[in-house]
Amino acid sequence: MKTIGIVTSGGDAPGMNAAIRAVTRVATYTGFRVLGFERGWEGLISNHARPLTARSVGGILQLGGTILHTTRCPHMETAEGLAKAAACLATNRVDGLVVIGGDGSVRAALALSEKTDTRMAAVPATIDNDVSGTDETIGFDTAVNTAVGEIDKIRDTAISHERIFIIEVMGRKRGFLASMVGLTVGAETILVPEMPFKAEDIFETIKENAAKGKRSGLIVAAEGIGDTRELASAIQQDTGLETRLSILGYAQRGGSPTARSRYLASLFGNKAVELLSEEQENQVVGLKNGKIISISMEGSCRTKKPLDLSLLKLASILST
Ligand code: F6P
Repeated sequence: MKTIGIVTSGGDAPGMNAAIRAVTRVATYTGFRVLGFERGWEGLISNHARPLTARSVGGILQLGGTILHTTRCPHMETAEGLAKAAACLATNRVDGLVVIGGDGSVRAALALSEKTDTRMAAVPATIDNDVSGTDETIGFDTAVNTAVGEIDKIRDTAISHERIFIIEVMGRKRGFLASMVGLTVGAETILVPEMPFKAEDIFETIKENAAKGKRSGLIVAAEGIGDTRELASAIQQDTGLETRLSILGYAQRGGSPTARSRYLASLFGNKAVELLSEEQENQVVGLKNGKIISISMEGSCRTKKPLDLSLLKLASILST
């Protein structure tokens, strides 16, 4: 009987458990034995794995986080770490490894693929939505909805107190989360690392809005733009309007996955097992124009996923 391994790595994302469930159940149905590696790549380096069965992954579909746990693993950037992980795959006779995580996990899987005969299939799961080759990652929709729910509440207090709020959302160095959240909460301004901005332009928008009678406002900023605390005090100083900063933080990574995140996890997990059954080499599963596809890991790592900057302009038009 052939073996499929599963590892969840990097920052957790809501829907990782749904992906573990999908991979385990489709793999079992197809006739594979399934092994779950514990604590991300650390589990491969220290050879910590447990068998997963169709029954043992029951009751996890709706849970945030990952039952396999996860870590950031700098060891995978060293030759020694990669050699240990490759040895672990050989010891456990793993024919195919499903790597559930973000772009760092895809890079690590690609590096590991050069040291082992085990085939890799990456399932993109990150709230940052920054994996190249897929329009959407598992967990992104849940994080967007979590942030939108919080910001709707912040809007209430912003209006009551006639205050400007900067709401900082996650996203690492990319602005996918910020742009989707900003558009869907009706933010006047969205700040993303992909689009340099001038503080003076923000002051101007706020003053124009105040002149029109709009004395509260929302600015959604990606964490990657720099110091939002400094920006908040500069806005207050220039516009004279009270300005507060709210950093949403790790709540964005938790919670029960939305139906959308579970749906993607189910389809991506199914596709990953299909690719490994077909003995395809080192692919990243993805969603492109509504279809489940796969691209090579090299291709995914080589290219930077583009952000649709027209969303920023649209958000500013819609919030007038
Ligand atoms: O990659 C997901 C993410 O939540 C990013 O948005 C954020 O920058 C980072 O992880 C935080 O990482 P850590 O959990 O290591 O603090």
